[in-house]
Amino acid sequence: MTSIQPRKLTVVGGGYVGSTCVHLAALKNLASEIVLIDVIEGRPQGIALDMNQSAAVEGFQSRVIGTNDPAETEDSDLVIVTAGRPRKPGMSRSDLLEVNGRIISDVAETIRRGSPDAIVIVVTNPLDTMVTLMRAKTGFPARRVIGMAGVLDSSRFAWFIHEATGAAVADVRAMVLGAHGDSMVPLPDYCTVNGVQLADLVPLDEIEAMAERTRKGGAEIVGLLGSGSAWYAPASAAVAMAESILNDAHRLLPCACLLNGEYGIEGIYMGVPAYLGRGGVERILEVPLKNEARSALHRTAGAIQDDVDALRERGLF
Ligand code: 2OP
Repeated sequence: MTSIQPRKLTVVGGGYVGSTCVHLAALKNLASEIVLIDVIEGRPQGIALDMNQSAAVEGFQSRVIGTNDPAETEDSDLVIVTAGRPRKPGMSRSDLLEVNGRIISDVAETIRRGSPDAIVIVVTNPLDTMVTLMRAKTGFPARRVIGMAGVLDSSRFAWFIHEATGAAVADVRAMVLGAHGDSMVPLPDYCTVNGVQLADLVPLDEIEAMAERTRKGGAEIVGLLGSGSAWYAPASAAVAMAESILNDAHRLLPCACLLNGEYGIEGIYMGVPAYLGRGGVERILEVPLKNEARSALHRTAGAIQDDVDALRERGLF
């Protein structure tokens, strides 16, 4: 039996996204200790006990700890933050600004005090604003505070490309940058099936329809569920990022990073391709973009700035 790395992963928020993150991380033996913390008494403890009781069947070595006590999260190497309200049908992610902003501020304080060396992956919506707030409240270097969304949005696009082409989904590569919201920027020029350009496989109008369905991908699921929002693909995306960081794998993944002049944008968190390794964001990659995609990225930066300003007006910064 291979030995498991002695390290600590904390997941904040015991809803569907958080508990699925813990489950995936345990199945991958990502950390020796995986802590799930939630404010509801009994819930994280119950989830942890249930999951640990699957270890004999699955053969994983991670130990899952459920708690309501922030002290148990101390000295985490990596924290995935999923706490917050999900959308209801008809709501935009920005409608969650204030309620989730307060939750993120509290969580940031716990991480700052208890796990000052941790890398933080934020999943809570509205994503780009919440990761901005997390960075401001922890004061951590930007390379250690990252938002999950590009991996999710790209994976949604990849699924639609698989459906349109019939190609094995594992051979599909897709890229979506920008905000995790209606202004996100799917990039068909960077989508391939094992190196073959999407434009050589699917007519342009169909590509545009898939890109639009990707932009509305989260809302489509909110509408179908009636209550709550997606959890399997968001959790897979967050855990893929965590895996690249903890295993120092240097995967190039689209995720929300603080831009420092890349793409001509300064001081805004948004989805861009980045190499993720042990230090967090090792490098942001600036890929060549056609004018239209570049303008779309600038529009998306404007939408994120509006949300950040709204949060500031509410006194949350
Ligand atoms: C979604 O797009 C949770 O925002 C997330 O489903």
